[in-house]
Amino acid sequence: MKIFCQNSDVEKDMQDLVNLFYDEEDCPFSVEHFSSLDENKLTSKIIIDGKEDVEEFVLDEKNELLRKSLAKRHFKNHLYDVLSKISGKTLPWGSLTGVRPAKFARDLVERGEIKPHLIPEVLVRDYHVSNEKAKLVVQVLQNQKCIIKNDKLVDLFLNIPICPTRCNYCSFISNELSKVHDKLETYLDCLLKELEAVKKVITDRAYIVRNIYIGGGTPTVLSAQQLDRLLGEINFPVDEFTVECGRPDTITREKLEVLKKHSVTRISINPQTFCEATLKRIGRKCTNKQVFDAYMLAMEYGFVVNMDIIAGLDGERLGVFKRTISTLLELYPENITVHTLSIKNAAQLTEAEEKTKLDVPKMVDYAQKTLMQNGYKPYYIYRQKHQLGGLENVGFMRDDNVCIFNIDSMEDTASVIALGAGAISKRVFNLENRIERQPNCKFIEDYIARIDEMIEKKVNFFS
Ligand SMILES: C[S@@+](CC[C@H](N)C(=O)[O-])C[C@H]1O[C@@H](n2cnc3c(N)ncnc32)[C@H](O)[C@@H]1O
Ligand code: SF4
Repeated sequence: MKIFCQNSDVEKDMQDLVNLFYDEEDCPFSVEHFSSLDENKLTSKIIIDGKEDVEEFVLDEKNELLRKSLAKRHFKNHLYDVLSKISGKTLPWGSLTGVRPAKFARDLVERGEIKPHLIPEVLVRDYHVSNEKAKLVVQVLQNQKCIIKNDKLVDLFLNIPICPTRCNYCSFISNELSKVHDKLETYLDCLLKELEAVKKVITDRAYIVRNIYIGGGTPTVLSAQQLDRLLGEINFPVDEFTVECGRPDTITREKLEVLKKHSVTRISINPQTFCEATLKRIGRKCTNKQVFDAYMLAMEYGFVVNMDIIAGLDGERLGVFKRTISTLLELYPENITVHTLSIKNAAQLTEAEEKTKLDVPKMVDYAQKTLMQNGYKPYYIYRQKHQLGGLENVGFMRDDNVCIFNIDSMEDTASVIALGAGAISKRVFNLENRIERQPNCKFIEDYIARIDEMIEKKVNFFS
């Protein structure tokens, strides 16, 4: 597949759109796109394997930024219509290719382009988004009332990109414990050194830490003593402090006691699925009993609990997925995050995986409707590349147990001071409507070797 675009600023979006219809290796044609602007008339020409499709648009907007965004929308919709006709498919998110649909809608309102009550109509009419997804965006926005835009309020993120073993579906960079065991203490030393420098910046610049999130990987691969050492140095009085335990086989009473001692409020215990045959196929070396036991322990300590599941796991069909949802509802955790499997080589699926793929839209629809019927509300949403069916991930809460950090991350509403290998800091300048990002080294070895450089860059970035 080849895409050639005369307008380089839309090339990536056009490519992303083609990839939503066709898997990269599977795309049967090449696409070329040309456009010309003559006064207020925009002509867009899509050529697919020599066959031309031409459309003309009236562009009578004076503001240069708006002109650009309208032109981009027209090009994408044109390509969407052509691809939809050829493939006979429509996409749940229409011609929207970005990863944050709720932020996209909020930005339209904040830029004064549309009134809030017009969000569903505009998403459906101007971006070909399905009615259901447009409604979902509105529900998500309604449940994000906790957002506070203030440049002095920041979130703190610490990354532990290490897991007991690798799950074979996982799209995150994380190291198997056995391969980095000898570097673990040095990694912690570096993380604490970075934390110390950051604490000084926080004091000097009068930042206020609103939320803390320790993620990964699997932070609870650390021993209770290592967790105690790390958490002992994180002493900000925050409302929300999450530790993404994730793998139930890493959770012990001793570790939960340490988390409680250091004022952690929220943890995750992720089943991914309650089908043990699937767990074996996906190489996730955990059992349902481990999830139930960890959950009972977490309830004893009064943590808010999140559970992650994934729709579209290797060989699962709708019936099995529905049983996972009903088990989740019996457990009734405060938060549930429903992911759609993201898979890079969707062109080479086995027969069983192809069948799963067909069921995925029904699974996601079933999960969303059933959770909402049972009192859960969607409060954050994002899309990843290569998600089956062009679908999305949605975080649900019950009884207003919102995770503000998740909202801030997805909606870019607060700066994030991010520490550790692979962590990406973000500085949000609300008044200027501008964001800057600062990545640390991706790999543990490089992070350790270049820790002083990481610290210097971070300190400058937040000064
Ligand atoms: C950063 S991971 C950490 C979770 C933790 N280590 C665990 O496994 O429980 C967060 C979540 O991303 C989701 N995830 C990972 N790989 C995925 C993929 N390829 N497609 C969709 N969701 C994925 C899983 O639900 C996982 O719980
Ligand atoms: S434990 Fe979590 S982060 Fe680690 S490989 Fe499995 S899904 Fe990915």
